[in-house]
Amino acid sequence: MSHDQKDGGADDAGDDRGQNGGENGSPSNDLLSFPLSPVEIMARNHAILCTVGFLILLPLGVLLARYARTFARRWFWGHAVMQFVISGPVIFAGWAMGYRTATTLELQALHDPHQKIGIALLALYVTQLLLGTFAHFVKMPTLFRGHRPPQSYLHVALGLAIIALAGYQVHYGMWIEWNFATGGLHHVPDSAMHAWLALIIVFWVLYFLGMALIPRQFSQEKEWRQKMHRTGKEDPDNRVDG
Ligand code: HEM
Ligand code: HEM
Repeated sequence: MSHDQKDGGADDAGDDRGQNGGENGSPSNDLLSFPLSPVEIMARNHAILCTVGFLILLPLGVLLARYARTFARRWFWGHAVMQFVISGPVIFAGWAMGYRTATTLELQALHDPHQKIGIALLALYVTQLLLGTFAHFVKMPTLFRGHRPPQSYLHVALGLAIIALAGYQVHYGMWIEWNFATGGLHHVPDSAMHAWLALIIVFWVLYFLGMALIPRQFSQEKEWRQKMHRTGKEDPDNRVDG
């Protein structure tokens, strides 16, 4: 995070992190000293839902695809259910709560980076749902001679980009947006900051470790291509996976 952003975001509200603490002046005791206001509760619930949706559920669905696709033919359904049926309601509810927080606080729409990135993430998520469905149903094996079509690669790249951008958004939300929007009466607890770091590290380490399965995946795909060319059938194994 750059210093400019911090200054830009905190200007109006006064970034008094560490100075406007609880009765004993310790920010970590703030939550114990006086309760959150209704709008702070709404913002906190927004933050929890969006973080769970984008940094726990979506990454789980991605890891499921990465690890299961070379072992279980039906990995695709686990992935689609996780990314849409389970994550969708959490993400949409989280976004609606963010929007309500902004309107309650009478903030100008699309004014700061958190609002802009939030809308972009929502649009990218919906695009990704459509792209994933397209990649699953439209494979064009004859055109690409059994190789994966561009929409599949695009879906993988966009999926990883969404998770990376969501990592930045949650960081911005906790370090800057919270103080800017709520006035910094209560501070985000250190435990939330540590949880953010843990989620980022665990996901990316597991994803890169899962890339060790790529040679196995490619050799399965090669085998399948050879079968396709031998038999002249577009889908010789009647594959039900991605
Ligand atoms: C209805 C929703 C979805 C469907 C139908 C779907 C479908 C697919 C398909 C068909 C693949 C295999 C692509 C290939 O050939 O390599 C795939 C992989 C993948 N999907 Fe989705 N997807 C959905 C939602 C999402 C979302 C929301 C994300 C965002 C995080 C995502 C992230 C990924 C990633 C990163 C991979 C690659 C996993 C790997 O490393 O192999 N998907 N998905
Ligand atoms: C991936 C996670 C997140 C996404 C996608 C997201 C998205 C959004 C969106 C779309 C809005 C409403 C913008 C508007 O319509 O004006 C918003 C507002 C807000 N968010 Fe988040 N957010 C996320 C995480 C967080 C976190 C972790 C926090 C703080 C701990 C936070 C704090 C706030 C606050 C205080 C508002 C109300 C003020 C404003 O609109 O700027 N958000 N967020």
